[in-house]
Amino acid sequence: MSEILLKIDGKEVRASEGMTVLEAAQSAGISIPTLCHHEKLEPFGACRICIVELEVRGGTRLVVSCVYPVERDLVVRTRSEKIDRIRKILLEMLLAHAPDSPKLQDLAEEYGADKNRFEKEASFCIHCGLCVRYCAEVKKKNAVGFVDRGIRKEISFIPQIAAKECWNCKECFPLCPTSYLQASFVLTKSLAFPSPSSESASEE
Ligand code: SF4
Ligand code: FES
Repeated sequence: MSEILLKIDGKEVRASEGMTVLEAAQSAGISIPTLCHHEKLEPFGACRICIVELEVRGGTRLVVSCVYPVERDLVVRTRSEKIDRIRKILLEMLLAHAPDSPKLQDLAEEYGADKNRFEKEASFCIHCGLCVRYCAEVKKKNAVGFVDRGIRKEISFIPQIAAKECWNCKECFPLCPTSYLQASFVLTKSLAFPSPSSESASEE
């Protein structure tokens, strides 16, 4: 696989063909915030928090670093006034849905985002898709999926599958940047399927 040289935040970075800008930055120890990225999953490009700026012909272009492939001689900036402003607004919109998310709160502090800027619509899920994609792509179980579309979109456990597969797994729980996933599982469990034993129920 051929090597590609690019510059990220002024640093020469060596990447392999097929890598994304995010992967190249991470391999060089340069941090870019992410909310929907996971190294074991196909790029999703949903949250947009990982946007970076490319220098092109005297101007700049914004791209989503977790899906944008590295190119020879690319010049990338991971922080600028414009990037920080966009990340701040994105965080303010997400915080309207999940104001208590520790991950969002940490990023809000870093980017000066105001969690009260937008009217609260506490749906708690920020649609990062990590749970749905992890269950499908890594575990191959599809025990949790998205239902509905647009603003009504939400995740839902499929009780028939979850009742069999989730008890000894729950690997998706720590991936969720909010507390919604765990809450949804507990709700599904209590409404749709009983615990296999009172002992395991008490472990939940
Ligand atoms: S429940 Fe959590 S992990 Fe799943 S899509 Fe929503 S925010 Fe992401
Ligand atoms: S991490 Fe790149 S779009 Fe979410």
